[in-house]
Amino acid sequence: MVTLDAHGPQLLPSEIALREAVPVLYRLVGDPDFLDSHVLPHLEEAGRAEEWYVAYHRDDVPYSLQVFAWPPGTRTRIHDHSSWGAFCCVVGSILEERYERVDDGSLPDYARLKKLWRLAWRKEDGISTVLPYERGIHRVGNPEGEPAISLHLYGPRLGEIDGRDYDPSKNYVCDRPEER
Ligand SMILES: [Fe+2]
Repeated sequence: MVTLDAHGPQLLPSEIALREAVPVLYRLVGDPDFLDSHVLPHLEEAGRAEEWYVAYHRDDVPYSLQVFAWPPGTRTRIHDHSSWGAFCCVVGSILEERYERVDDGSLPDYARLKKLWRLAWRKEDGISTVLPYERGIHRVGNPEGEPAISLHLYGPRLGEIDGRDYDPSKNYVCDRPEER
């Protein structure tokens, strides 16, 4: 059984903390006991739900560990995080679209985005990572007909907000105060 070590990474720069977190996520994803107890039990309910949701989380460590359940056809808004993050698809397939910001951030509520890439992640494809704010603007979802489950690790927030949500059809960005 993997345990999350409670030292260090919160004090490290995001790039280094993320580098330390990736092997932790690999260990969790490769741990049959962890998957049996915390991940796979959510699959059935994920098949019946209408919206994506966080099925399990623990925040009593420097990392926030979250199990995301993705019913078929669900996806997030385009968003970023005020922390680093890493996720691995454990069951099914997760589609991620990644964006970059092409304005200079000087106008309030305004952001212009350009799509960088689009990738379907399965478990064998490994771990996707984001750095805080505009270094990790993405949308994640499950366009397939079967439910999917992904395991996420987030670092500590660098600011008051959880992150920001973007609407590129209106070149709009707003703060997201709390986790959804
Ligand atoms: Fe995200």
